Amino acid sequence: MNTKVIAHRGFSAKAPENTLAAFQWAIKTKADGIELDVHLTLDGEVVVIHDEKIDRTTTGQGWIKDFTIAELRQFQNGVWFSEEYSDQIIPTLDEVLELASNTELLLNIELKNNVIFYSGLEETVVHKVEHFGLEKQVVISSFNHTSLAYLHQFRPNWSIAALYEEHLYKPWIYAKTFGASALHPIYTVVTEEMIEQCNQHGILVRPYTINCTQDMKRFVDLQVDAIITDFPDQLYGLLQEKAI
Ligand code: G3P
Ligand code: MG
Repeated sequence: MNTKVIAHRGFSAKAPENTLAAFQWAIKTKADGIELDVHLTLDGEVVVIHDEKIDRTTTGQGWIKDFTIAELRQFQNGVWFSEEYSDQIIPTLDEVLELASNTELLLNIELKNNVIFYSGLEETVVHKVEHFGLEKQVVISSFNHTSLAYLHQFRPNWSIAALYEEHLYKPWIYAKTFGASALHPIYTVVTEEMIEQCNQHGILVRPYTINCTQDMKRFVDLQVDAIITDFPDQLYGLLQEKAI
């Protein structure tokens, strides 16, 4: 089994995270998939951005939940990274889905509803993905496992993955209690034994965010399903070397 390359927030080492530019770079770099974070605006649009507030990555200030999509789109979303990306604005989920249409890209959509309660986020994301017919390519993840359990109730066949950063007790058993078919742990809590148990229980393991080549090598050798990284080019290169 080949470990898949998932570009964390797009190719976020190359272009500003969670922008169309970062996702386009990920595709160019031959990543198998992209990870993106989503929130709901005041007027119910799904936007792709990491933080609950726009302060760090845009030229604006405030909570996403307090802006309409039209207001949010007025802010630059790439200059914090480089002037080269001054044209980037906050993408909508629709734009990313459009970009992924007619590709085989795996789309890891992370519901960022662990700090703010976005009423209806699960349904809205599901309907948008279905509108583009991309449900077979999507993995929904979240640190909010109650939200994942809720989504599982009305879309039992969708791939869902539990994000976590603690040393959970038997996470391969816990995952099944709410229909998760994969675990997305921070890589520091992943052990060999845990990967073995997950394999035996049919639970996929995709650690995040692995940026150091040594760790990449270790997890490729441990045959995790995918690695989530800011450097998809490095991981791709490493996998190519191994294949020779
Ligand atoms: O999905 C993996 C990773 O993105 C989770 O943490 O904070 O980068 O969204 P964060
Ligand atoms: Mg994320």
